[in-house]
Amino acid sequence: MSKKYYITTPIYYPSDKLHIGHTYCTVATDALARYRRLQGYDVMFLTGTDEHGQKIEDKAKEAGVTPKEFVDRIVTGERGVLDLWKLMNISNDRFIRTTDDYHVSAIQKIFKKMYDNGDIYKGTYKGKYCKPCESFWTESQLVDGKCPDCGREVQDAEEEAYFFRLSKYADKVQDLLENTDFLQPRSRVNEMVNNFIKPGLEDLCVSRTSFTWGIPVDFDPGHVVYVWVDALSNYITALGYMNDRYHDYEKYWPCDVHIVGKEIVRFHSIIWPAMLMSLGEPLPKHVFGHGWLLLDGGKMSKSKGNVVDPYILAEHFGVDALRFFLMRTFPFGSDGNFSNELLIQTINTDLANDLGNLLSRTTAMVQKYFGGTLPEGCRECAAPTAADGELKEQASTLRARYEAAMDAFAPHKALEEVFQVIQRANKYIDECAPWALAKDMEQNGARLAHVLYNLLEATRICGILLTPFMPESMEKLFAQIGAPAEAQTWESAGSWGILSGTAPVTKGENLFPRVDVEKALEELEEAAQAAKKAELPALETEPLLEEPVDFDTFCKNDLRVVKVKDCQKVKKSNKLLKFTLDDGTGTDRQILSGIAMWYQPEELIGKTLVAIVNLPPRKMMGQESQGMLLSAVHKEQGEERLNLVMLDDKIPAGAKLC
Ligand code: MSP
Repeated sequence: MSKKYYITTPIYYPSDKLHIGHTYCTVATDALARYRRLQGYDVMFLTGTDEHGQKIEDKAKEAGVTPKEFVDRIVTGERGVLDLWKLMNISNDRFIRTTDDYHVSAIQKIFKKMYDNGDIYKGTYKGKYCKPCESFWTESQLVDGKCPDCGREVQDAEEEAYFFRLSKYADKVQDLLENTDFLQPRSRVNEMVNNFIKPGLEDLCVSRTSFTWGIPVDFDPGHVVYVWVDALSNYITALGYMNDRYHDYEKYWPCDVHIVGKEIVRFHSIIWPAMLMSLGEPLPKHVFGHGWLLLDGGKMSKSKGNVVDPYILAEHFGVDALRFFLMRTFPFGSDGNFSNELLIQTINTDLANDLGNLLSRTTAMVQKYFGGTLPEGCRECAAPTAADGELKEQASTLRARYEAAMDAFAPHKALEEVFQVIQRANKYIDECAPWALAKDMEQNGARLAHVLYNLLEATRICGILLTPFMPESMEKLFAQIGAPAEAQTWESAGSWGILSGTAPVTKGENLFPRVDVEKALEELEEAAQAAKKAELPALETEPLLEEPVDFDTFCKNDLRVVKVKDCQKVKKSNKLLKFTLDDGTGTDRQILSGIAMWYQPEELIGKTLVAIVNLPPRKMMGQESQGMLLSAVHKEQGEERLNLVMLDDKIPAGAKLC
C-alpha cells in the first residue's frame, strides 16, 4: 500500500476576485502535492472556499443580491475561483464550499460535541471586532487601538455569545509549539508564543447574533457559529468527519501539512489544535506559514486597489512561466516584493536563457548532427573527461538535494538546485564545443554523440524535478528529448543513464520564448486598464454644461459645511427627510431633502455635509426648508443613485466652501 499524504491550502473568502497573492499560496501547495505524487504517495490535496461571515453578508447587501448568490458568482462564475484554479492547473483532489450541506450539518455536530463536553459555554461578549478580518480582539491585543492584523479600525461589540475554553488548552498548545516541529518556519513559533500565549490565552467567542449569514447553532436559534470555527473544520469535514458525504477521514487524517499565509498562522497553530484537542482528534503534523507577496512594499488588497490579476499574467506569459516565477523568486517562508519587471527578468534569465537554451541547443544538435537519433553506444565513452564526470555527478545527486529542500518546505531552494545543474549543463556545452567536434565526424562522431547523450540525460533529470512546478511544459520537454514514461519517474531521477540513447529526439516549439521587456510592460498596463474598465458598472452621468458661468455669479452661492444634529422621516412623505443642522451660526437650520429612498435617517446623524444656505426658504409638506444639501447623482444600470456630499469630520460647521 502506498503512503498517504494529506495537504491543504486555506479556503478562500469569496468576497472579491482572487489575486496573485492567493494564487501564490495555491500554486505552492499544488507544487508540493505534485511532488508527493511524483514520489508515489497517495495524495489528498484539498482546497475550497470559506463562504460565511458578516463581510460577505455586507457585500451581498451592497450588490443587491443574497449572500449565496454573491458567493456563487465569485466561486463558480466566469473567471471565478474554480476557473482560476483550472487555468493555473491546480491538481486539487477535492474542493469544499462551507455552504455545502454536509459541511453545515457537520459543523453543527462539532459545535454540539464541544458544548456537550463542556468546552463551549454561554456568556456575554464585550470587546472589539474587526469586520474585514472577522476577528475578535481584546483591548490589550490591539495595536494603537487598531486591529493587529490589518491595522484597520475596530468596533465595540457586546452581545450574548458562546465561548470556547481556549484558555484550558494554553499549556498544551504552548508545549506543542515549543517542543515539536508542528509550526514552521521556526521563526513563527516565538511570534505565536510571545504575542498570543504568554500574555494569557483568553476564551474565544465562537458565536454571533448580530448577523445571520453563518451556520446556525441548531440548539440555540439566533446564534451563528463563528466563521473561523466553521472554516477551520473544513479540513476534517471534507474527509467525512461527522458526515456521510465522504468516507476517508480514517485514511487521511491527521493532515501532513496545512499551508497557510502568515496572518492566519494564529488560527491554525493555536485555535485549530485546541479545537481538535477538545474533539479528541489527532493533531495535524505540520502547519507551514508562508510570507506575503507585496506590491510596492505593502500588502495587496482590493480596497487599496493594488491587486495583481493572475489571469492577465497567465494569459500573457503562460501558466507554467507564472507558476515557476512564483516559486523560484520568493523564499517561501518570507515576504517578497512582486513586480512585472521581476517576472519578466525571471522568465528571460531562467526559462528562456538557461533551460530554454539547454533544451533547444541540445535537441537542435542531435537533429543536425545525427538526424534526430543518436547512434548505439553513445551512453559510453572510452575517455570520459573531467567535465563529463562533473555533470554526471551533479545531475545524478540532484534529486537528494532537491528532496531535502522540498521536504523542508523550501521549493525556492529546490529550484535553485535544479538551476545549478542546468547552468552546469550549459557550461558543459561551451566546454565540449560540439560544433567543433562535428567538423570531423569520423574522428569525433562517437565523442560528440556521448556529449549530446549526457546533455539529454541532464535535461531529463532536471525535467522530472521541474514537473511539479511546470507540469505541461515538462511533458513537452520529455516529448522533445524522447523520454518515455519510465524515464520520467521519481526513481529514474536519481539515476544516470536511463535514456535509451537511440530514442527519437525532436526540436519542437520553443517552450519559453524570450520576452521583450518594454513591449510586455506596455501590454500589461493596457490589459490592467482594460480589466479595470470592464469591472466598472455601466455608469451614466449628466453631460457637462457648455454654457459658462462667470466667477462673480458662482461666488454668490453661499456653500457651508453643516453637521447633522438630527434627521427624521417627514410624516406622509416617502421622499423627504427633515434635517436639523448646525451651520456654525449658533442657531439650528432646518433643511428638507428628497433623499429618503437612499438613506435611513439614523445613519446620517453626526455626518458632515455641504449645504447651500442662501436659497430663499420654501415650504414642503407644510414645513420650511432653509437651503439645500449637496449631493452627487448618477445612474447605474439605468437606476438613479444618489450620494450626499460628505466631508471629513475634522472640518468645523460653518466653514465656507470656495
Ligand atoms: N478564509 C480564510 C482562510 C480559512 S482556512 C481555514 C482566509 N482567506 S483569504 O482568502 O483571505 O486568504 C487565503 C490565503 O491567501 C491566506 O493564506 C492568505 O495568507 C493568502 N494570501 C492573501 N493575500 C496574500 C498575499 N498578498 N501574499 C501571499 N498570500 C496571501 O484567510
